[in-house]
Amino acid sequence: MNLSGRDFLKLLDYSKEEILYLLELASFLKQKKKNHESHRYLYGKNVCLLFEKDSTRTRCAFEVGALDLGMGCTYLGPTGSQMGKKESIADTARVLSRMYDGIEYRGFSQEIIEELAKYSSVPVWNGLTDEFHPTQMLADMMTIKEHFGSLKGLHLVFMGDARNNVANSLLVVCSKLGVNFTCCAPKGLFPKEELVHQCETFARENGSTITLTENVLEGVKGAHVIYTDVWVSMGEDASIWEKRIQELKPYQVNKTVMENADSNAIFLHCLPSFHDTKTKIGKEIQEQFGLEEMEVTNEVFESKQSKVFDQAENRLHTIKAVMYATMKE
Ligand code: CP
Ligand code: NVA
Repeated sequence: MNLSGRDFLKLLDYSKEEILYLLELASFLKQKKKNHESHRYLYGKNVCLLFEKDSTRTRCAFEVGALDLGMGCTYLGPTGSQMGKKESIADTARVLSRMYDGIEYRGFSQEIIEELAKYSSVPVWNGLTDEFHPTQMLADMMTIKEHFGSLKGLHLVFMGDARNNVANSLLVVCSKLGVNFTCCAPKGLFPKEELVHQCETFARENGSTITLTENVLEGVKGAHVIYTDVWVSMGEDASIWEKRIQELKPYQVNKTVMENADSNAIFLHCLPSFHDTKTKIGKEIQEQFGLEEMEVTNEVFESKQSKVFDQAENRLHTIKAVMYATMKE
């Protein structure tokens, strides 16, 4: 498998075999790390991380991953560079390509990263856009595979804002890897029809199903993985909170949901998560709407079924795999 020089912008661009190869590579790199074996395979190269939105996991995974692979790394945050304000995406891409061997971008529309990649002569990786979050998917599938031994025949249910980047990407990755996918959400928040149709073709090829339902108990019945994400994503206006809370309260992942899933089901969340009031926004929501937990109850988040920190760790190994596979010569 040769992914050298490829961009990693969305999983629609990747085949099932390529995705499975990246998962295998991630497991190999994880083992190297656990055994404290040096894997400075990209020694002497440099990567640039562009973040127009905040991040903990993605930024740290790229930074630690780059260092583990022997590379130098520059972080450019939402302020402090010329990008977007005084310099176009096209010019930024051409400048950074002269200094770096790879570029990560987290920001707003998918169009921006597609433009960046068009003008960049080095690989560009998507660290999250409004539409997609492909590196997250590799960590999610790796976590599920580690837990259940294989992905075959499993059923993943996403509950919540099913139009967001994580839900869209889960729809794509599940249909590409033959995992049965259910989106459990109010109709108004179902993924766009065009993407669903595209993924139905993949699902058919890979022998899996795609179900969209508003009915929680029916939707989660027998599920092996219950997955949720925040109800309001980065870049959305804070005024949307009230509407989303009303729409999505019935889709909270709680004990009843987990009890109706398979008895061996696990809970996943890309994080960060509002499962208590120990955050600034969590407190504000409590004061404004009287809600102490949002997309997932603290009970489920802290339960044995919750694998969210295994999932967070796997961000490192999978992002490292993406950098290595696309940068090696
Ligand atoms: N899951 C995820 O992308 O987390 P960060 O926003 O912290 O990078
Ligand atoms: N849907 C979330 C994912 C965060 C990792 C957001 O875009 O804010």
